[in-house]
Amino acid sequence: MPESASPSLMTVILAAGKGTRMASSRPKVLHQLRGRPMAYYALDLARSISSDRILMVLGHEADMVRANVEDSYPGVEYVVQEPQLGTGHALLQCLSQLEGFHGNVLVLSGDVPALTADKLENLLKTQMNSEAEVAILTSFLPDPTGYGRIIRNQTEAITAIREQKDLNPDEESIGEVNMGVYLFKTAFLVRELPLLSNDNAQGEYYLTDLVQAAAASGETVSAFILKDPDEALGINTLLELSDMEKRMREDTLRKLLEGGVRIIDPTTTYVDESVEVEADAVLHPITFLYGATRIGSGTVIHPGAVVTDSVIGSDVQILPYSVINDSRIDDRASVGPFARLRPGTHIGPEAKIGNFVEVKNAHLGEGSKVSHLTYVGDAQLGRNVNVGAGSVTCNYDGFSKHQTVIEDGVFVGSGTMMVAPVVLGANSIVGAGSTITEDVPPDSLALGRARQEVKEGWARRWREKITGKGNS
Ligand code: UD1
Ligand code: CA
Repeated sequence: MPESASPSLMTVILAAGKGTRMASSRPKVLHQLRGRPMAYYALDLARSISSDRILMVLGHEADMVRANVEDSYPGVEYVVQEPQLGTGHALLQCLSQLEGFHGNVLVLSGDVPALTADKLENLLKTQMNSEAEVAILTSFLPDPTGYGRIIRNQTEAITAIREQKDLNPDEESIGEVNMGVYLFKTAFLVRELPLLSNDNAQGEYYLTDLVQAAAASGETVSAFILKDPDEALGINTLLELSDMEKRMREDTLRKLLEGGVRIIDPTTTYVDESVEVEADAVLHPITFLYGATRIGSGTVIHPGAVVTDSVIGSDVQILPYSVINDSRIDDRASVGPFARLRPGTHIGPEAKIGNFVEVKNAHLGEGSKVSHLTYVGDAQLGRNVNVGAGSVTCNYDGFSKHQTVIEDGVFVGSGTMMVAPVVLGANSIVGAGSTITEDVPPDSLALGRARQEVKEGWARRWREKITGKGNS
């Protein structure tokens, strides 16, 4: 086995608490932050610092939390804490997992989503350099209320962490707080965890008491002090969650602005961190870009657009109030206003989707136009096709979906029903109001409607009969 420079690392994520202060029935770690459960942030962190093992302590709604995590994070080990008697008690449940493990144990909380890997690397280094049994992340908060305070002696050595409810009056002014991230040597944990008591204001087993235990037995407790405490803020209430959401959103927008994206009104623009936007794209107010979305340069996203998991090329116009999911839109195309692109849509270059058009699982070739009030589903449209207003690909027969193929240069008159499966051959023309149930050969005219009948004078005679008088 190759000699490893750093000892192996087990990361334990504490996520058993109910989150009482959230005042919500949903488990705290499943509350969404920027569209993802809060638990995912801790799991991402654990992964990004290459933990050899990841343990998650679950309790309140354990099954629900596990079900929401399992598929996205294979390989995580779960430990159930029942009942939940405090953070120290939570870690105590991991004792059997610690048996035979010789590395370090990093403890994260499921409710500290803004923390970044580089800060954890600093904590790991702090511990390595000092050979401390315990290393913790601390910071100075303008308002430390609610956090555990760092108690230091005359030589500045850390001697304890005191929880808010257990503070002596003279300790309330201490600004240095515990950010809830700890690194322990395994042997220390195995020795000290079973000795924790719940003799405190909340009657809980505090993880934080391990700091006092270490100091009391003459061990070193080292700290890495975070300059920007915002990064390690714990989320305990819905207000703190929305403050965090806002802060993260603003960060993302700032990066986009610095990268040359024009954002008209950042206060009403919502962009996930995962979204890529090229320079010279324009985001109008009240726009939402989510998930694995990419926007090319020169593209304009107009007000009210909601774009999810979609790739949009350059110089595209997404006109107001368009909703786009899992779609691809090529350069210089135009979509909307009021368009709906559902999964599997591919709009070719310079193609146009107009108002009140719904497209699903369909490809429009270069320069094709579907401009008004139309449904295109399960369809292949070639280049320079024109579909008139109010047309429908009738793709569903009540049992299964069928394809409509419209080849290059076809002109589909308004109000056409294309009953799939059906092929409209290249450069054919379909008369308005047709119901097309059979394939149309190339270059032909297809008419599928009742022949018009005209009865001259009928309307006048009818009016006279109804009103008893002639036209004035
Ligand atoms: C904790 C720290 C406090 C620190 C703060 C930083 C303790 C005693 N206090 O307080 O010093 O300043 O974090 O954010 O640790 N949990 C369990 N089982 C339990 C209780 C909690 O798994 O029985 C989990 C929660 O789900 C949560 C984490 O532990 O993810 C922290 O618990 P929380 O109640 O939020 O602790 P704080 O009061 O914020
Ligand atoms: Ca907390």
